Formats: sequence, C-alpha cells, structure tokens
Amino acid sequence: MEFFVDTADVDEVRRAEDYGFLDGVTTNPSLVADSGRELEDVVLDICEMVEGPVSVEVTATETEGMLEEGRRYAEWADNVIIKVPLTPDGVRACNRLTDDGIGVNVTLCFSPNQALLAARAGATYISPFVGRLDDIGHPGMESVETIVDIYDNYDHIETEVLAASIRHPRHVTKAALADADVATVPFDVIEQMFQHPKTDLGLESFLDDWNDAQ
Ligand code: E4P
Repeated sequence: MEFFVDTADVDEVRRAEDYGFLDGVTTNPSLVADSGRELEDVVLDICEMVEGPVSVEVTATETEGMLEEGRRYAEWADNVIIKVPLTPDGVRACNRLTDDGIGVNVTLCFSPNQALLAARAGATYISPFVGRLDDIGHPGMESVETIVDIYDNYDHIETEVLAASIRHPRHVTKAALADADVATVPFDVIEQMFQHPKTDLGLESFLDDWNDAQ
C-alpha cells in the first residue's frame, strides 16, 4: 500500500517526505484554507518537494467550472491530479479531464455504487471516506473492502482505491488489510504509527546495558 500525506501544510509535507516513504499528497479546500495561503503557492511548493501525485480539489460545483479549474491547475505541475466531488457534475468532469489526459481523484465517495460510477468515468483514484462514515455510525472501512472486491472482479478497471478520511493508526492497518492501493494519512497519524511503548523501553534498556558495559 502506498502512503500519501493528507495536508496542505508545506512543513508537514517536508517532514513526511524526509522519512523517505512518501508516495504522494492529497489536499482539500478545508486544508488549504487552514494553511492561510493561496492555493497556487501551496501547490507549487508541494509539487517541488514531492515527485508523486498531488491532489488539488476544484471548488466549482458545475461541470464547466470544474473543467476550467481542473485544466488550469493541471498546468501548474506535471504531478498535479485534479480532485472532483462524487456528484453528477463531478463524474462528468472526471470523464472529460481523463479524456484530456489529466489524472483525476474522485473524492467524497461514501458507497460502492458511487465508486462504480467513478471507475466508469475513468477516475485515476477513488477516495472512499472512512472516518466520516464512522462518524455517523457506519463501518467506514467496509466501504473500502467492498470497493476493492468489486474492482478486483473487473480486469478493465484501473482506478486505484485511495482510503481517505483516515483518523488513527488502526484505520491504516485496516486499509492495508483491505488491500487498498493507497492510504492518505494526516501527518499526526503518520507520527503516531511510529509509536510503541515497548520500542521506547527496549531502546532504553539496550542503551543502558551498552553504557554499563563501557
Ligand atoms: C481526502 O482526500 C480528504 O482530504 C480527507 O482524507 C478528509 O479527511 P477528514 O474526513 O478527516 O476531513
């Protein structure tokens, strides 16, 4: 499973990239707004740091506006992927952007049927949101598992399953077990994935023993 970091904070991207296992980045309008910076500045900075795909989301809600934004953002860097919402307008935009040779991440996916539509529209990635389904009492990861199973039934589907709205390390483990192609993970969750008290205690005792013997 590949790792993307889900952030528009350039410092977090730099720190994730420094670990050496970062495969890409996803942003969304809320994350960019939180950064307090202009979208283009954020995207250019991130694309300079990361070789893998960088998802940039449109804010238009109608197909024509999505196409205008998507085509413009795709010119900013070769690794920009356009994120469109899973609405009828978004799916139409996905179809046309992929015809133009632009990579598309269809976001805000909450059901396997929505994922089937995105695949038919030629999406590069489908982003099922796990945490937001959990928030309303639905088992979010089941949606990822079902989408992976359905896509596996059809050789012609090339859309990759990108587990999104990941909130904690257990979600990452479950996404890997579900055979998701990618998980997009907030930076603080990546940091939590390193943590285990037995690692800290083991290191401490190894170093104590070593130092005692010197
Ligand atoms: C996906 O690409 C979104 O940016 C993100 O994963 C949403 O996560 P949230 O539900 O924690 O806001």
